[in-house]
Amino acid sequence: MACNKFVTLSNDEKMPIIGIGTWQASDEEIETAIDSALEAGYRHIDTAPVYGNEQAIGRVLKRWLDAGKIKREELYIVTKLPPISNRPHEVEPTIKKSLADLQLDYVDMYLIHTPFTICINPDGSFKMDEEGLMEVDKSTNLAATWLEMEKLVAQGLTKSIGVSNFSKEQVERLLKNCKIPPANNQVEHHVYLQQRDLIDFCQANNVVVTAYSPLGSKGIAKFNAQAGLKRDLPDLMDIPEVKDIAVAHGKTPAQVLIRWIIDTGVVAIPKSTNAARLKQNLDVFDFQLSADEVAKLCALDKNIRICDFAFFHGVERHPEFTFKNQYTN
Ligand code: A2P
Repeated sequence: MACNKFVTLSNDEKMPIIGIGTWQASDEEIETAIDSALEAGYRHIDTAPVYGNEQAIGRVLKRWLDAGKIKREELYIVTKLPPISNRPHEVEPTIKKSLADLQLDYVDMYLIHTPFTICINPDGSFKMDEEGLMEVDKSTNLAATWLEMEKLVAQGLTKSIGVSNFSKEQVERLLKNCKIPPANNQVEHHVYLQQRDLIDFCQANNVVVTAYSPLGSKGIAKFNAQAGLKRDLPDLMDIPEVKDIAVAHGKTPAQVLIRWIIDTGVVAIPKSTNAARLKQNLDVFDFQLSADEVAKLCALDKNIRICDFAFFHGVERHPEFTFKNQYTN
């Protein structure tokens, strides 16, 4: 059965409260995973050009749509303006490239992937300076980029627009400077990085929050290692309190982590390429966390940011970069 729990956005569009995250999955893995996800009832798919899998996702969607197994309006597709294209004149051509890759006429949500902009060489590789640090484009003008995002809605290329990895201050700045308010802010959110301030602010201003890395993004370890970063990341599914609550309900730690997120009206996009785990991550509506359990989970906050973009060496020099490496180990 399709996920039938939705959040309503400020423009009255409805977004399924659970979607499938697709970062760090190969083309082959993702084709199988999207097939399994659609079979399991997922309708919300979160992708981005940076993940390199829009074409693979597009192939699966086309198969399902052509076979009449699903209607376009039943799907909720999110993609993003990448950090290398975060400039006003790149907005329209970039969404058009994503739409061509996804084989769609429109997406449901288009997000500015990061508030910062990074530079590339003509061959597409990242531009590095003599110190081996990534060159950043400090001329980023979020209000000007947003103006172009708004035009995409009028053109019918996306139903809604939003942001990702934006701080409270950055969201606030856009809200003061827009015709169409951002409908969504997609940020890292889980028991160890709760970001209550940011979430409360967004929700008070009708900006739906989507939680990425809801399960702690174990797969990021490989990515960090490739970038030469050594980091012992916590395993959220191994936290004793989470495990105890899971046992008490006959559910898994992943299901507890997801339920805790969506119970506050935050959308969760757990990533999995495994058919059984995909199913499990959607099967979270047959139990209820007690107030005491919610309090225990809320008390776990440690301000540990797992996806701090440290793998983009030098990006912290961008004026719109607001994360610090808060990882304390
Ligand atoms: P896999 O794709 O092999 O299932 P996040 O969504 O926080 O980025 O976390 C994704 C990571 O968690 C992936 O490594 C994924 O592995 C794993 N994962 C996803 N769902 C579950 C689950 N239900 N139980 C255990 N691990 C899971």
